[in-house]
Amino acid sequence: MGDSRIVPARALRGEMAVPGDKSISHRYAILSAIAQGTSEIENYSPAADCASTLCCVERLGARVQWEGSRVTIGGVGRDGFRAPGGPLDAGNSGTTMRLLAGVLAGQPFESILTGDDSLRRRPMRRIVDPLTRMGASIEAERGDFPPLRIQGGALEAIRYEMPIPSAQVKSCILLAGLYASGTTTVTEQVATRDHTELALAEFGSHIARTAGIATIAGPARLEAHNLAVPGDLSSAVFLIAAALLLPGSELRLLNVGLNPTRTAVLDFLNSMGASIRITGRRTLAGEPRGDIEVRSATLSGGVVSGPASARMIDELPMLAALGPFTERGITILDARELRVKETDRIAALVDSLRRMGARVESFPDGLIVTGRGGGPLHGAEIDPRGDHRIAMAFAVAGLAATGESVIQDADCVAVSFPGFFDLLDSLIER
Ligand code: S3P
Repeated sequence: MGDSRIVPARALRGEMAVPGDKSISHRYAILSAIAQGTSEIENYSPAADCASTLCCVERLGARVQWEGSRVTIGGVGRDGFRAPGGPLDAGNSGTTMRLLAGVLAGQPFESILTGDDSLRRRPMRRIVDPLTRMGASIEAERGDFPPLRIQGGALEAIRYEMPIPSAQVKSCILLAGLYASGTTTVTEQVATRDHTELALAEFGSHIARTAGIATIAGPARLEAHNLAVPGDLSSAVFLIAAALLLPGSELRLLNVGLNPTRTAVLDFLNSMGASIRITGRRTLAGEPRGDIEVRSATLSGGVVSGPASARMIDELPMLAALGPFTERGITILDARELRVKETDRIAALVDSLRRMGARVESFPDGLIVTGRGGGPLHGAEIDPRGDHRIAMAFAVAGLAATGESVIQDADCVAVSFPGFFDLLDSLIER
């Protein structure tokens, strides 16, 4: 596909489903692989990241069958993984690497987890430290970066207070807790996404939760389970933003995940003047879902800071790119984690916004994007630096700018949302 050309659009109209949730798909795949029996997962994410997880668990011995969005996984049982006989490739996926590391820490063999250039630059000390405390022996480049060489074995339960808000770190420790003797406790100051806790309960583990604290009793055995993944709200947000920006738009997104640890972005958009409506609410396997209706709106602008920044971490690129179209602009604070995502997202946002003519100022943990007063955006050539969310955010901005934009190496969207450009095109009224 290469580059993608974006021309201004009039409106977005239609009704569609977005791909299955990436975060939830990873968890269902990993837990199915170590459960006893065969699990069927419907609406599994088509994201390249989630394919990485399936390839890894297959290499470890799980039997994986993939037909469209339905994945059947023959689990090996808690102790059934075998040494993979070579490095496991997590591709671009931080979730694959950090969650699987938790499971591999409990295996009686050595494994190596590696990934692409972007992933090999991402920090892993955050999981190496707690897993080492539990008894695993892990070597990382300069103590922090992949590849990770993990010598697992008998683990001890720990009490762990999270130094940074990260669902991946929390999940890594809880998964290792399945292999530890005793009760592993993870405490978090900011409630991050809780898909692992919900899924662990579905697969029959003894997980208990009170505000900010999750405990898991190990060693534990999991039972196979049939599950349906809701649509990915973090992917839906790009379409929601496009509909908000383009006057006369009306969009209905079906069966989208609405777990309250993920919906802060909808509250924020509504607080800026959007009227995003939810219909058909239902909950399956602890995961709420429903249909989202959105119409174009004038957005006032606002500030994302404190715990809200962690709760909208994946949506911040889109929110920043909305900034120049709002009345007062968008300010993002307390979001240092953006620097260590698939790319340094603060740097990528500043560069891309400036190329389109926006006024923006950045600091170590955030950025201030001037609103409409800073002038209209014009089309530009955008280098998303291989980051799927940067590519999608500026494709949306390009629809509402003047003139043509080019998103370089647009194929990177396949990391979370294959087919994004075709789908966007099918919804556009010109
Ligand atoms: C994820 C957690 C978040 C998020 C990532 C997916 C997960 O990362 O940014 O896209 O599935 O647990 P952190 O745990 O690094 O915050």
